[in-house]
Amino acid sequence: MDILQEIQNTSTEFQSRLSTSEPEVLAQEYLGRKGKVAQLFKHLPMVDPEQKGNVGQALNQLKQEIEESLNQQNHKSVASNTSQDLPNIIPPSLDQLSQEVGHLSPVTATMFRLQDILGSLGFSVVTGPEIETEYYNFDALNIPDEHPARDVWDTVWVSSTDSQKSLLRTHTSPVQIRHMEKTKPPIRIVAPGRVYRYESTDATHETTFHQIEGLMVDTTTSIATFKGVIKEIFSKLFDQEIEIRLRPSHFPFTEPSFEIDVKFNNRWLEIAGAGMVHRSVLAAGNITDPAVQGFAFGMGIERIVMLLTGLDDIRYIHSGDLRFVYQLGIQKN
Ligand code: PHE
Repeated sequence: MDILQEIQNTSTEFQSRLSTSEPEVLAQEYLGRKGKVAQLFKHLPMVDPEQKGNVGQALNQLKQEIEESLNQQNHKSVASNTSQDLPNIIPPSLDQLSQEVGHLSPVTATMFRLQDILGSLGFSVVTGPEIETEYYNFDALNIPDEHPARDVWDTVWVSSTDSQKSLLRTHTSPVQIRHMEKTKPPIRIVAPGRVYRYESTDATHETTFHQIEGLMVDTTTSIATFKGVIKEIFSKLFDQEIEIRLRPSHFPFTEPSFEIDVKFNNRWLEIAGAGMVHRSVLAAGNITDPAVQGFAFGMGIERIVMLLTGLDDIRYIHSGDLRFVYQLGIQKN
């Protein structure tokens, strides 16, 4: 028997039956455990050694060709069934359905992108708890109880039994303290994560959103370093040379403090809060060497997604509506 000829015949025969037989029947007959393809494979050990490569290849091709044809056939039949609107078709086997390949949500994709960019500048990712203590979220960040600045971060308090009051962290800044307590400078970290605010929602406010925090502490860290890093981050993120501008601002944990604006599509947009880390914050992180300085910044990821996509209502982002997620079209790398 000429096995190559036999393979060819099987292929021709299969193709001729494709339009008339049910795909399930063909699958069983050709690809089943005792099917025609399996029978042909059984001949392989008997083939001349110098022919083996060719025959093996032809067999694999045959198998692949049959699998692909049947797959297409299945897709066609599922599609034509649904177009006739037949009620509740339960496909005999799940792999007949075309499978949607998942992708990252725009928020995660943007967060990963920022982590990558900061990673290329030597920052490593650290995380902290979402249920925080009052100490890390406020006191250690130079916002003592009764300080009016606490009102800036409308807080969801969590009832707790121990003496420390707990809350859902209102920003990612507590991670700065947690990290400094454990590490000596030089420090370069990026802390992404979910944060919570007790406030009513509107097109630009959500009760739950994401921030990414950056912290760099070193003897060489200055406002110039800080500006350089920020410019680099946004130029890479927006894929073009980006102009930035620092406006004086106030945060209890930085001195001086800035709002960072970036120029995008000819408009200045406020994109992050930042500043040189306040001495008392460094001290809360056990850093007292006067030669060491730090800068920190924090920004909302959803806001960046909105800028990148032109989205005008933040509430869509966590609505769970898949049409929205796909339409945004931010694909993972
Ligand atoms: N934590 C601040 C906020 O949530 C942002 C910020 C981070 C500002 C770091 C300065 C330095 O608004």
